Amino acid sequence: MATLLVALLTILSLVVVGIEAGQNVIISLLDSAIAKGAVCLDGTPPAYAYRPGFGDGVDNWHIFLEGGAWCQNVDECLTRTKIPSGSSAKLISTKNGSVPFSGMLANNSTFNPDFYNWHVFKIFYCDGSSFMSDVEDVDPKHNLTYRGARIYDAMMDELLRIGMGNAKNALLSGISAGGLATILHCDKFQSLFHKTTRVKCLSDSGFFIHGEHFIGGDLRESFFSGVVSTHGLTNTLPTSCTFKFSPTLCLFPENLVPDVQTPLFLIESSFDSYQISQTLFKDKSPSWISCNQNLMTCNLTEIEIMKDFRFTIINTLKSTIASSSSKRGYFVHSCYLHGHMEYKGGSTCSSFIGNGLANKTIALAVGDWYFDRSEFQEMDMLNNLPRNCTSTDDYPTFEKKCSDYYIQHHQKP
Ligand SMILES: *[C@@H]1O[C@H](CO)[C@@H](O)[C@H](O)[C@H]1NC(C)=O
Ligand SMILES: *[C@@H]1O[C@H](CO)[C@@H](O)[C@H](O)[C@H]1NC(C)=O
Ligand SMILES: *[C@@H]1O[C@H](CO)[C@@H](O)[C@H](O)[C@H]1NC(C)=O
Ligand SMILES: *[C@@H]1O[C@H](CO)[C@@H](O)[C@H](O)[C@H]1NC(C)=O
Ligand SMILES: *[C@@H]1O[C@H](CO)[C@@H](O)[C@H](O)[C@H]1NC(C)=O
Ligand SMILES: *[C@@H]1O[C@H](CO)[C@@H](O)[C@H](O)[C@H]1NC(C)=O
Ligand SMILES: *[C@@H]1O[C@H](CO)[C@@H](O)[C@H](O)[C@H]1NC(C)=O
Repeated sequence: MATLLVALLTILSLVVVGIEAGQNVIISLLDSAIAKGAVCLDGTPPAYAYRPGFGDGVDNWHIFLEGGAWCQNVDECLTRTKIPSGSSAKLISTKNGSVPFSGMLANNSTFNPDFYNWHVFKIFYCDGSSFMSDVEDVDPKHNLTYRGARIYDAMMDELLRIGMGNAKNALLSGISAGGLATILHCDKFQSLFHKTTRVKCLSDSGFFIHGEHFIGGDLRESFFSGVVSTHGLTNTLPTSCTFKFSPTLCLFPENLVPDVQTPLFLIESSFDSYQISQTLFKDKSPSWISCNQNLMTCNLTEIEIMKDFRFTIINTLKSTIASSSSKRGYFVHSCYLHGHMEYKGGSTCSSFIGNGLANKTIALAVGDWYFDRSEFQEMDMLNNLPRNCTSTDDYPTFEKKCSDYYIQHHQKP
């Protein structure tokens, strides 16, 4: 599952709208974390990429948590020590030392008008537990360290050291497993700031449903149960949840989101391509694999399964939002996708892949909500079939259309 996701994310990032160049940002290691025992699965120090804010963005901080599924047993965690999602050494060698900042992380004011000049601090994911593990002893047999929560804390210490504590505006966001981590850490993040700081959280494709009575319910539950036991999460998950539910159920956002006190925005697809392709069947038939790779090949049974998934996630989202203590913003569309923020096609230019709601791109919807220009609460209730939102335009045409759109539409706050 883990390896598949890495492959899937790579594919998605390339097909959404072709390959896009972004500002390259150097990957740094947080060496001071070693003394705190805040290390990756393989014992290497955790990594981040930081681009300082500029202009009137110098008091604004955007902290972004990378994703990459979870490891649910020792073997899967060991596999991760050989790839970036378990080892910063592997991260740096694979990426040649730097990563592009695109989409909502980009510095281009045309395409990313609300967040372009903020400090952007991307925290890489190398613990396999959505930044939740904190096991004191190193597994002596396999030499694995489970310290995701310590990594999160060490990164926050570093951020405060470099000035985040005086922020006017702060946003904690994350994608996929990082989107789940965002929900799990949101209130703790908020507590780092003064009362006058505007602090909000944004979870991108982090709403992994339990769907107890839907296909794969047992599979999803036993998967998270494996994550909880492998990473020793019983006592690190929010007590507001573990007080009511088992630790396993406290990795499902539907049981967490209602208790989050800080303003939270959810970006989701009702046809989340990761959840549909990875969390329904343990053994995938060739027919299902083909359908997941190319929607045109899906048969009627498979389309029905996807429609049932949509029905389940929409109902779960609605009841979760309805029982939330504070208001939620959300953007729930119907393109077969997973992960948006780091890609132009996914976020800042999403309308141009047919992925707009209320005439807004995802990035503008988030900006409206963040700056209180409007509460953004939109769910696509019309399209009940999964849509392939790959742009048919060549990249320069796509970019031209998108920049024209921003020139016409956007009013800075
Ligand atoms: C944005 O990033 C590009 C590419 O690294 C760089 O050339 C440019 O100077 C940056 N712009 C600003 C306003 O920082
Ligand atoms: C265990 O990992 C550490 C790095 O955390 C490394 O220095 C050490 O050599 C490893 N030990 C074994 C037995 O592999
Ligand atoms: C890193 O550099 C190697 C050798 O120059 C190249 O083959 C590889 O594609 C590069 N990887 C990335 C992610 O740029
Ligand atoms: C933003 O991107 C557009 C299109 O690529 C480019 O023309 C413009 O110069 C960029 N702006 C900045 C500030 O980098
Ligand atoms: C249709 O899809 C189902 C589910 O993936 C699969 O089991 C079945 O073999 C497919 N039917 C045909 C005729 O390919
Ligand atoms: C979407 O369309 C593109 C271009 O036609 C195709 O390459 C891709 O496989 C399709 N994706 C899915 C999931 O159907
Ligand atoms: C959406 O935008 C288009 C083009 O800018 C405009 O013509 C249309 O009236 C807008 N629709 C809504 C519902 O605001």
